[in-house]
Amino acid sequence: MKNKIIDLIVNSVDALGRDEISDLIEIPPKPELGDFAFPCFRLAKTMHKAPQMIAADIKSAIENSADASFLDEIQVQGAYLNFFIKKDIFVKSMVEAAFDENFGSSDIGKEKTVCIDYSSPNVAKNFHVGHLRTTIIGNSLYKIYSKLGYNVVRINHLGDWGTQFGKLIVAYKAWGNEETVKKDGVAELMKLYVKFHEEAEKNPSLNDEARAWFAKMEQGDEEALKIWQWFKDISLIEYKRTYDLLGMDFDYYLGESFYRDKTDDIVKKISDAGLLKDSEGAKIVDLEEYNMAPCLILKNDGSSIYATRDLAAIFYRKETYNFVKCLYVTGQEQKLHFAQVFKVVELLGNEWAKDALVHIPYGLVSLEGAKLSTRSGNIIYAEDILLEAISKIKEIIEEKNPDLPDKDETAKKIGVGAVLFNDLYNQRIKDVSFKWEKLLNFDGETGPYVQYTYARCASILRKLDNYTPSTDIDYSVLTDPDSMELLKEISRFPKVISDAAEKYEPSVVARFAVDMAQAFNKFYNANRINVDDENLRNSRASLVYITKKTIKDAMLLLGIDCPEQM
Ligand code: ARG
Repeated sequence: MKNKIIDLIVNSVDALGRDEISDLIEIPPKPELGDFAFPCFRLAKTMHKAPQMIAADIKSAIENSADASFLDEIQVQGAYLNFFIKKDIFVKSMVEAAFDENFGSSDIGKEKTVCIDYSSPNVAKNFHVGHLRTTIIGNSLYKIYSKLGYNVVRINHLGDWGTQFGKLIVAYKAWGNEETVKKDGVAELMKLYVKFHEEAEKNPSLNDEARAWFAKMEQGDEEALKIWQWFKDISLIEYKRTYDLLGMDFDYYLGESFYRDKTDDIVKKISDAGLLKDSEGAKIVDLEEYNMAPCLILKNDGSSIYATRDLAAIFYRKETYNFVKCLYVTGQEQKLHFAQVFKVVELLGNEWAKDALVHIPYGLVSLEGAKLSTRSGNIIYAEDILLEAISKIKEIIEEKNPDLPDKDETAKKIGVGAVLFNDLYNQRIKDVSFKWEKLLNFDGETGPYVQYTYARCASILRKLDNYTPSTDIDYSVLTDPDSMELLKEISRFPKVISDAAEKYEPSVVARFAVDMAQAFNKFYNANRINVDDENLRNSRASLVYITKKTIKDAMLLLGIDCPEQM
């Protein structure tokens, strides 16, 4: 419908092209203002005429055109042209669009690759709530970009290299043993790490030992690498348990260690470009001109660091995947790090870095008010949060609906979904507060609320005899305000997806899911579905059907599955 309106406007004004007109067209906030509106301020500037007069001219030009038969009316209100589409035609076009299997999909990303670097926990450390956020946001961006036709490469840039492993090896050899590490996994490795720092306070020479072990790792020492690999394997087993609970996966686990033999090349590149500077024995790239602290490339002992490996990773990825964009989802505290690294890539003569490399920061998780059972001390594991959410939901199910089939599977979908939704509902840069009462609420702006609405749609459709989803229905009976409002909400889906992608903002989709659920519940309160009049019944059922389908697709973009019954 929007395209048809653009056609009409294109034929009536010379001063603007299709794309500009398309960008200007608005969906009015109130039905009294029509289904689409076109503001004439922009034209007023180029045409040196009052916008009201321009609107009136366009109106009469369009009214004389034969192609305008789908319109009920055009009104000039102030500087706006408001278009009212014949209701049944409008309803038909919206229902048919939403019925399409690929509703919301597009091919704007065809043959383009986007790399997403996310999750990326640090080996031998626990997978905590911060890593849960990058995992959830990164996964949602993966779904959103895939829906738009992009080829998405999901990369887990594990923190699996660096001096901390030298410390761990020293600690393990001094105070650890194989059995306890096998039994307690990451928790034991974390204890050893803490122990190292306590002991190194008293005996600083331990730091030299640690450096020596890391140097051995860098030189390929067999013993050092064997212990390191073992720590890594143990950590990955735990991380993968969390990924399984989330139902998420990666294309590559290429951690920092993967780039250890690729950093020399980077240093050479930087040096050849005349950008490498000495600074108290270390090597840096000076970024003062760009109002940034220098980017450290090599420490004074000659070893590479986090930034060096990130530089190597960028060139490796550009060569291997030829991405149009490479997205990095991490906490805001890494803002400067990425700004520096991206700048260095650009200074090496890569103009593409400006648009293609994007840091996607997010806010903190505050656990105030949430009583979480923790394994030890105050360390909060993402896995424990997910398991606790699932078990709380299971309790609710046992109490309210003990006969539900697949109770465990359903509790998992709702519990995990609740945590994900809570994380994605607000703009990612905002801090997330974690309150069980809030996020597990079946009423309000929550995952369970949207899932419950979905299950309600499923139940309505299950109870109808002889209904097969079809667009072969009477559209004129779906023109009441609540049905129209719901349909308009559903119609926003494709735009919602492209907005979310453009802003790297899954919250746009999460908000849409809540808006849809609310519009559906309003429609459902006003309209009975299972009425005797078959014509009416089937038409309303088709509306329920596309609501159900669109809610499911929206939630899948957030990484959340919807149970058919709850
Ligand atoms: N391991 C890092 C951390 O936990 C995140 C890595 C992000 N990705 C990157 N290419 N630097 O903070």
